[in-house]
Amino acid sequence: MAEPKIDFASLSLFRATPAQTEESRRRTFPQWGGTLSLTDYLARDAMMELGEHSKDGKWITWVLAPRDDPTTLDFMSACETYKRTGLVAYPSSSPSEPNSVHEATCYGVACVFTPPSKRGRGYANHMMSLLHWVNASRANLPEFPEAWGTPPEEVADAGGGLFSVLYSDVGEEFYRSAGPGGKGGGWEKRGAISTIWEVGTEEGDDEGWNWLTEEQLNGLWERDAVRIRKELANMPTSESSYKVERPAAFATYLPTDGVCGFHITKSTFASNFSMADGFWGVESTSDPGTYASWSVDLRPPPATLIVTRLCASEETFPGLIAKIKQAARRSGIGKVEVWNLRVGLKEVAEKTGGRTFIRNEHLPQIVWYGPGTTGDVEWACNEKFCWC
Ligand SMILES: CC(C)(COP(=O)(O)OP(=O)(O)OC[C@H]1O[C@@H](n2cnc3c(N)ncnc32)[C@H](O)[C@@H]1OP(=O)(O)O)[C@@H](O)C(=O)NCCC(=O)NCCS
Repeated sequence: MAEPKIDFASLSLFRATPAQTEESRRRTFPQWGGTLSLTDYLARDAMMELGEHSKDGKWITWVLAPRDDPTTLDFMSACETYKRTGLVAYPSSSPSEPNSVHEATCYGVACVFTPPSKRGRGYANHMMSLLHWVNASRANLPEFPEAWGTPPEEVADAGGGLFSVLYSDVGEEFYRSAGPGGKGGGWEKRGAISTIWEVGTEEGDDEGWNWLTEEQLNGLWERDAVRIRKELANMPTSESSYKVERPAAFATYLPTDGVCGFHITKSTFASNFSMADGFWGVESTSDPGTYASWSVDLRPPPATLIVTRLCASEETFPGLIAKIKQAARRSGIGKVEVWNLRVGLKEVAEKTGGRTFIRNEHLPQIVWYGPGTTGDVEWACNEKFCWC
């Protein structure tokens, strides 16, 4: 029998108890378990909790639950957030000055789920609206709607976020409409663009390239973060590829603290897949600005090598993509995918057989809590490594 509709003011958002966290994972298993058994699915999350990118309170499960029974296992909806370190750049007023770059707290949202028996009552939408109130600085939010009662309690491990991102599998509108003050003002779509190469048969020699194992990649991220910071400082204030002509700010995640690396663990857990020779990245030996890292999408088969972070110039990109295809081929993978190549590289990609298209799944969406509006903000380095 359908449950009666509940007044939103009687509900709030709470950090899940350990029992609620497990219940939430059990609920999402049929949706996202893939070929894992329930035991492996729960074990994967338990292992992920210990990872650099999620430990020390960075990974939080949230539940929408009755205010008078916040620890119930019969909660209405749930989601997860990952606390991240990002960078934001504010354009300089003079073209000869670099943009001012600042470190910022940001959040990734994942696993939004309402059990089938509770769907269609506005629970997930309301939960997403309340999520702004625990992730952002409240000084940056509009007035809390009276009809929702009092704002959710702030949580020590959350808050202070300048922006938040997620990847929608239910279109743009669902998350865009969930704003902090009601309808509208939520997460907006940016760059849902993929480029895919079929992996051919040609082999190349390895001269001029260093293959990177998972451990070796850890040394790359610190250098990559320095490069991203520099890129942001020198980002042109206006460019035709931007969402708006003159962005008020540029925002990006950083790949450090296990943020880029955990994709490998997550995607291969309890499978017997391994990249040939354990290579999960490659870098040029002559150009410190040419490198890539990857993970794999094993489900649904056939497997795809998915590039998590890529850095190259127009000149070095063809060589880099040839190496990535080679890594895929040696591991029995027939396809390579890159998300959101920057403009200059898209054209080079086409010449190397890459097919670029707009995805209708995993839509990157961002909400900005700083000065200006989300519509004025450019998401820099909007690549697969930001996904969670
Ligand atoms: C998507 C989901 C979280 C919505 O939960 P809910 O509590 O029913 O959501 P709400 O009642 O707040 O909102 C329902 C709205 O979401 C829309 N929606 C639900 N599933 C959708 C889908 N797969 N694609 C597009 N829109 C969808 C509904 O059309 C409805 O829109 P309307 O209000 O204009 O009619 C729920 O259907 C679910 O858990 N699905 C499986 C997991 C999932 O796909 N999560 C999202 C991952 S990005």
